[in-house]
Amino acid sequence: MATRPILHYPDPRLRTKAVPVDVVDDSVRALIDDLFDTMYGAPGIGLAATQVNVHRRVLVVDVSENRDAPHAFVNPVIKDAEGEQERDEGCLSVPGFFETVKRAEQIRVSALDRNGQSFELRAEGLLAVCIQHECDHLDGKLFVDYLSNLKRQRIRNKLRKQAQSGRGTKARA
Ligand code: NI
Repeated sequence: MATRPILHYPDPRLRTKAVPVDVVDDSVRALIDDLFDTMYGAPGIGLAATQVNVHRRVLVVDVSENRDAPHAFVNPVIKDAEGEQERDEGCLSVPGFFETVKRAEQIRVSALDRNGQSFELRAEGLLAVCIQHECDHLDGKLFVDYLSNLKRQRIRNKLRKQAQSGRGTKARA
């Protein structure tokens, strides 16, 4: 297992639409392991393969306090989405910024696990937010897309400046 560098907004590679995984093989399991390492190391509560510049539909989440509830999703599909919730969201690809985003309160997601077995999960609250946020990444979408143009522009300019001055690596990844 190894950590991988995380792309930072506005890197255009974050806009790539990830392709489905055909077979959950050792390369996919190695990717899942690296995603967990990178997510826990950051630290963060979710990470999509897109964020480490791998454009396959794989993501991991763990929203538990004790960091002991890992979930890996291959080819996740959100089947149902109900209700509404608003939470402050951050993103390892948008370090240092937290903004309120409106999402579904409850979702039902289907996916393959690390052994290629299909499963379904019902999630609500923070876990539901996190899965929706990570699924967006696989479609090249970021939480800043839900904000006003003005806010998004400010965030983009600040992160660009940080990257240019080399301070980007010090920001909370
Ligand atoms: Ni994110």
